[in-house]
Amino acid sequence: MTNDIREILLTEKELAAKVAELGAQITRDYSGKGYSGERPIIASVLKGSYVFMADLTRCIKIPCDIDFMVVSSYGKSAKTSGEVQIIKDIGQKIDGRDLIIVEDILDSGVTLSYLMRVLKARGANSIRLCTLLSKPDRRKVDVPIDYLGFEIPDEFVVGYGLDYAERYRNLPYIGILKPEVYGG
Ligand code: IMP
Ligand code: MG
Repeated sequence: MTNDIREILLTEKELAAKVAELGAQITRDYSGKGYSGERPIIASVLKGSYVFMADLTRCIKIPCDIDFMVVSSYGKSAKTSGEVQIIKDIGQKIDGRDLIIVEDILDSGVTLSYLMRVLKARGANSIRLCTLLSKPDRRKVDVPIDYLGFEIPDEFVVGYGLDYAERYRNLPYIGILKPEVYGG
């Protein structure tokens, strides 16, 4: 498995330090005033963010609800409709609630901008986005990020939840995949 990795981009240690920082930031922001006073809902978009979600939520030291969504994006197909299908929705009502969406990586932004629009229309009190990684060079749609782990170059990365063809999710670090692995 590790033979397919060209270079380790982010080590376990670097990831853990950043995740702790983000968790502390969210803890500070949501224990204060100005929010609905209720527990925030922290919802992640499966599957890529499952490792980040598990680590991040354990660094958040206030009560919160944990939820998950599954979406299928047609954003990368030939017909870039920007349409996103919600395969599994958040399991609770979000109107009047404070929502934090947790993503693994923001690439073109097509999926997230659609999702944020749909969720906003449901009358949440606030919606913020937390993404571990961002590839700014790839952005097609502007999506404001409230909590960002790392900006990374335009390389295909795997590990820490991120996959190529469902593989490499269980690598504990984030690595750049050798182009010959995906025929690049
Ligand atoms: P987009 O922002 O709508 O283009 O979609 C981003 C999604 O594409 C992410 O949630 C990932 O599932 C996937 N993705 C984008 N770049 C990478 C990468 O470098 N490695 C693994 N998955 C990626
Ligand atoms: Mg994803």
